Amino acid sequence: MPHDQDYIEIFEQYGPVCIDLGPGVMNDLSAEFLLSAEKPVVTFVIGGKSITKSGARADLTSMMLHYDFESRIVCDIPAEPDLDDVARIREAIAQSASTEVVAIGGGSVLDAAKAAWAAHQSGLDVSDLFGSGKISEKFPGKEFKRIIAIPTTAGTGSEVTPYANIVDRAAGVKRLIADKQVIPRMALIDPYYGRSMPESLTAATALDALTHNIESLLNISAPETKFARNDLAVYGASLIRDNLPLVFRDPNDVNARERLCAAATIGGMQIAERPTSLPHLASFSFYGRIPHGIAAAMLLPPFWRYYLGKKAVAERTMLLAEVFPGKTPEEIVDAVAAFIAEYAGVSSLSALPCFDAAMVDKIASDAGKNPMKLASAPRPVALENAAGIISGILKKEL
Ligand SMILES: [Fe+2]
Repeated sequence: MPHDQDYIEIFEQYGPVCIDLGPGVMNDLSAEFLLSAEKPVVTFVIGGKSITKSGARADLTSMMLHYDFESRIVCDIPAEPDLDDVARIREAIAQSASTEVVAIGGGSVLDAAKAAWAAHQSGLDVSDLFGSGKISEKFPGKEFKRIIAIPTTAGTGSEVTPYANIVDRAAGVKRLIADKQVIPRMALIDPYYGRSMPESLTAATALDALTHNIESLLNISAPETKFARNDLAVYGASLIRDNLPLVFRDPNDVNARERLCAAATIGGMQIAERPTSLPHLASFSFYGRIPHGIAAAMLLPPFWRYYLGKKAVAERTMLLAEVFPGKTPEEIVDAVAAFIAEYAGVSSLSALPCFDAAMVDKIASDAGKNPMKLASAPRPVALENAAGIISGILKKEL
């Protein structure tokens, strides 16, 4: 397993996205624009108050005062953005005839910007982009422009993934765009921006990253690749295990914050090629009720215990023994569950106020809308049995 700051070398070698992790990212951004052949017209997509608190907004304003390029700002993109939020960004891009889109904020902001930029360039409705590879399918051989991502939280890994999660309020579900055309072209990650996050957001985002690394590790149906590998997933999990407690002790510990950022990006690299499955699938039903990272992490142990019915998953689980000690796969799951419960501040799924029989029914019924994740689960679930199996697993937790 790689150690400590080995992520620096890993990021340097990563091909799909130019990753720069360290302070002063707005300087990197202005250098990028100054070096570009044509003067860019930029749409900046940013989050709400947290962007001001993090210092990112002040850095952006100062950068814009120093460098002369045309720009427009779309602000206050909320958590779990919906089709209207994406439409607002798309309109700004169209009105300004932007040549670049820069997203500054949490995963939600990045996802909304990815969806809007792809919809604008393709001329398609965002709802036509939901699913796997829809843009690439409709435009074979075409290379779309991709966003520059400046994540200010350390969780989703959206800065390196081909995914954008968008809420479809009419259908009452969170839907997924999965396409290489929405992978950001640059990820500029400044660990200093994380210092202003409240403890609860630090925990929710870090636990999301932990869940990405572990769910990807458990994905026995997807082969290892150069950057989506067992040892990297274990390394990502170890960075969370070692550094989340340090950040809880001292929110200004920027070295530990940097390692949480690295773990989130490594988690993104893992799920980009070996995706998540049932815990994330079930977490989508909690949108608007509890933070995504808390839902996904709390759902991980029950589904993981179900996966252990497959010998290959049990063997894969033992790779985590050096991070979460245990002599058996069950003991390792228990150790991870205890870590999640400690930092989520919730002892079990049943302690979540929104987790009740009605929620179990909703999760079981929503699951059928994502047959891809059911089929690719470490212990695959047939569509016709999905509702019964999923509610069977979760009813034990009530
Ligand atoms: Fe996630």
